[in-house]
Amino acid sequence: MTVPFWVAGKPVTGGTSVEVRQPYDGALAGSHYVPTASDVETAVAAAASVADEFAVVPAHVRAGALDHVSRTLGSRAEEIAALITAESGKPLKWSRGEVGRAVSTFRWAAEEARRFSGELQRLDTDPGGTGRMALVRRVPRGPVLGITPFNFPLNLVAHKVAPAIAVGAPIVLKPAPATPLTSLLLGEILAETDLPAGSWSILPLGNEETATLVRDPRLPVVSFTGSVPVGWSIRDSVPRKHVSLELGGNGAVLVCPDWTDLDFAAQRIATFSMYQAGQSCISVQRVYVHTDVYDALESRVLAQVAALRTGDPSADGVDVGPLINEAAATRVASWVSDAVSSGARVLTGGGRSGATVEPTVLADVPEDAAVMAEEVFGPVVSLVRVSSVDEGVERINASRFGLQAGVFTRDLPTAFDVSARLKVGGVLIGDVPSFRADQMPYGGVKDSGVGREGPAAAMADFTEERVTVLTGLTL
Ligand code: SIN
Repeated sequence: MTVPFWVAGKPVTGGTSVEVRQPYDGALAGSHYVPTASDVETAVAAAASVADEFAVVPAHVRAGALDHVSRTLGSRAEEIAALITAESGKPLKWSRGEVGRAVSTFRWAAEEARRFSGELQRLDTDPGGTGRMALVRRVPRGPVLGITPFNFPLNLVAHKVAPAIAVGAPIVLKPAPATPLTSLLLGEILAETDLPAGSWSILPLGNEETATLVRDPRLPVVSFTGSVPVGWSIRDSVPRKHVSLELGGNGAVLVCPDWTDLDFAAQRIATFSMYQAGQSCISVQRVYVHTDVYDALESRVLAQVAALRTGDPSADGVDVGPLINEAAATRVASWVSDAVSSGARVLTGGGRSGATVEPTVLADVPEDAAVMAEEVFGPVVSLVRVSSVDEGVERINASRFGLQAGVFTRDLPTAFDVSARLKVGGVLIGDVPSFRADQMPYGGVKDSGVGREGPAAAMADFTEERVTVLTGLTL
């Protein structure tokens, strides 16, 4: 069945359709209808015209709708996980995890919507403000354009849609062309709520058509998750808009000499350099290991990687599936060969078959090789021996990215010291950088982006302060 797209909360069928193929074997994942220019115009016009009405919809209505989505995602979890796996090639266990996270993202947004109240500020701190008080509330900046990537077809969509609904900002969502089906299914669930018509649309458009939406003045907020060049070019193209960017990273780990549980560190490093075939902005890509523990850790990482099962992502027990397409796998394999040509050693892996890249561990990789300096977005990790914690911090910070970093230490002063010095949006102590609880502020510095996600952080991002000054009060 060809599924509809969603304009102003209504399903639209007819016209051109496109097929979505499974990355693993090219089988059909599903198909959907494609919006025309007139559908896009209807969606944007509806978002603009409902904005004032939606901004004053009572919190219980918005929170109730978000709770409904959260509960329904939970009750349809298996079906949705299977769809995520079909269109993205993500192993089923990770797709199940993603649905669980989206349940939580919508639930958190519902809870935040109920508490989103503003604050009182007394103004009688100077004689001119005697008898005055300010009511500081946050109001939507206007309709949001959400643009999402293929690697979390549900939860990164949830991180745009849920906070927009929570604050009463209409949203026009453009999902990734490779993985639109899950967001279109989310549309089915949103359509069961009583949110006002026009408050949400889901338009599976090609990347080329997105520029027009980005420039449209009726969408003053752009929230983008995706690649570095596209993200920054969006921000540069609309300097007067409020643009938040969640871009890539080349996630680093530092293993300090005091860390004794090397089995745990190796298991976390192996799992989270290869999960989703490395296609996460916070997957582990660079591992700086103090020389005192390097040899013991290297052998353990290799054993853990060898235990990972690669194959059909829809089969239970498979750990590593394909990349999103063969072109991505070819690029990753070529970066590995380039690293080897510049002196890197392949400790395990290195091969490719179709869209699948073998879990690959490298050593002696030059810092300027693409597998170290760029975002690999593939199942490739590089191990590096360092002679001090300071050297590790310096080498992590030498990157142009700064999303999250993980530090294995049990020493509290070291934990505080490196957290203060690492130039990233988040530091994980005692773990890899790949941990994200969905209520946390999440985002990066440097080329990794600007702004923070997580329901509360995105709600602040999608709104601005409005002050009402009350006068003649007895305070
Ligand atoms: C991302 O890849 O940008 C998001 C990672 C996550 O949500 O776990």
